[in-house]
Amino acid sequence: MQDIIHELERRREAARVGGGAKRIEAQHAKGKLTARERISLLLDEDSFEEYDMFVEHRCTDFGMEKTATPGDGVVTGWGTVNGRLVFVFSQDFTVFGGSLSESHAQKICKIMDQAMKVGAPVIGLNDSGGARIQEGVDSLAGYAEVFQRNVMASGVVPQISCIMGPCAGGAVYSPAMTDFIFMVEDTSYMFVTGPEVVKTVTHEEVTAEDLGGASTHTSKSGVADLAFENDVAALLQLRRFIDFLPASNRDETPVAPSDDPVDRAERSLDNLIPANANKPYDMKELIVKVVDDGDFFELQPNYAGNIIIGFGRMEGRTVGFVANQPMVLAGCLDIDSSKKAARFVRFCDAFNIPIVTLVDVPGFLPGTSQELGGIIKHGAKLLYAYAEATVPKVTLITRKAYGGAYDVMASKHLRGDVNYAWPTAEIAVMGPKGAVEIIFRQDRDDPEKIEARTEEYREKFANPFIAGHRGFIDDVIMPRNTRKRLNRALAMLRDKELENPWKKHGNIPL
Ligand code: HXC
Repeated sequence: MQDIIHELERRREAARVGGGAKRIEAQHAKGKLTARERISLLLDEDSFEEYDMFVEHRCTDFGMEKTATPGDGVVTGWGTVNGRLVFVFSQDFTVFGGSLSESHAQKICKIMDQAMKVGAPVIGLNDSGGARIQEGVDSLAGYAEVFQRNVMASGVVPQISCIMGPCAGGAVYSPAMTDFIFMVEDTSYMFVTGPEVVKTVTHEEVTAEDLGGASTHTSKSGVADLAFENDVAALLQLRRFIDFLPASNRDETPVAPSDDPVDRAERSLDNLIPANANKPYDMKELIVKVVDDGDFFELQPNYAGNIIIGFGRMEGRTVGFVANQPMVLAGCLDIDSSKKAARFVRFCDAFNIPIVTLVDVPGFLPGTSQELGGIIKHGAKLLYAYAEATVPKVTLITRKAYGGAYDVMASKHLRGDVNYAWPTAEIAVMGPKGAVEIIFRQDRDDPEKIEARTEEYREKFANPFIAGHRGFIDDVIMPRNTRKRLNRALAMLRDKELENPWKKHGNIPL
């Protein structure tokens, strides 16, 4: 018996050392943790149950039969984050550069299948040289099996990718289909074709960092949600993030009890809106002042800053916030912000997370770059996402809600459940000046007349009451009472039931 136990221990130890001490040292020298160290930071202590640590590849080409390493370059299994079940795979760069073989893919598929059955998030810690070159098409088949599961799991369980090393070639498409992507600064990169290929094909010289590093993808391409300084910071924030998410689309949003009074008045909000309608203010201040304990988990803060997205809690329950940000592009909707918010709205809707929309939007951003870039189609994504969403939708217009953008931002007409406005709201087809220049074009050379007409228009439309007369706004609320009113609305909507007509799926303007 002792021998058998020793044999088990020996085999386990062989799997634990992965590619060996030298490669682990090299991994550390790059500032990276190993696959197992990452899992132990991510999961609660002693909660990890590992699967398939004895799996080996079956490749016999290029002398591979002599190189099998138990576990085959990926550590998989399940455990808990703050007591809640998650499934995880962590690619081990010390074994064939974390490259994906047929067996490696099967291990990932196994935990994805199980996560879908039991209803728990899948977290992927990616650190891989891509397809296992020695395995050829078997590796490509393995990727496609993972891709297929990414799609099947989409909207069923949350999928989160944390890119902690290379992720290149077609391999990027698995993270791309997950719900959220975190990256680590300086050590991770994602691209479809690397700098060498780019140079050969387009003669552009670009570094891996500029082409696909964390700052590129969190500020320019919008591919990733957040960048972190190192592995530890990324994994700790990932733990915090998981706390906001339901385990699956069958699950309720998690509740995190808070001592923050549900009716806490915030007098400073009465002065948030500047007297001058063209002066910006920070919409984030409003969010932080209404959520429980000021705890707001913002996503994509450095991309399309004209819209803010992220999670907070109201009365302990997760809420998705979407808010125009007057500090950037005056809060206009444009291509990037529409795409950013649309995907977020769809995530919330898929996972039963109520959406609070804070509106201060002067319209869609004008310009040839927007029109030629397809703002029509991209703006429609956000409109579609809001119109399709059946989760509780609470909207608050703080200042401008002009034109089509008024309709788009979870208006009453898109089945907004509770639509509030502050007294400072201006709900109109456009701003007073623009409106007068069009409808009183004959007076355009007479500044006095134009000024009088503008004042007349402002008085008539630059307020929430016309919309209030029509019932498009349910109430005009005092800014200081925003937290209380939103909390009450969300509580009233907790058991909301609404279903869209049966269809195979809609055809969102992609
Ligand atoms: C097999 C691989 C590998 C791979 C790396 N290794 N990538 N083995 N298949 N794809 C091995 C190396 O041989 C080396 O083994 C060890 O991993 C570490 O690699 P290094 O090159 O020493 O590390 P580093 O200098 O940090 O460079 C990392 C790297 C480089 C940039 C990722 O390894 C690289 O360019 N790899 C090839 C990337 C690639 O072209 N992949 C295929 C892409 S196509 P030893 O034994 O020396 O430690 C693709 C298609 C997916 O992925 C399609 C999906 C549809």
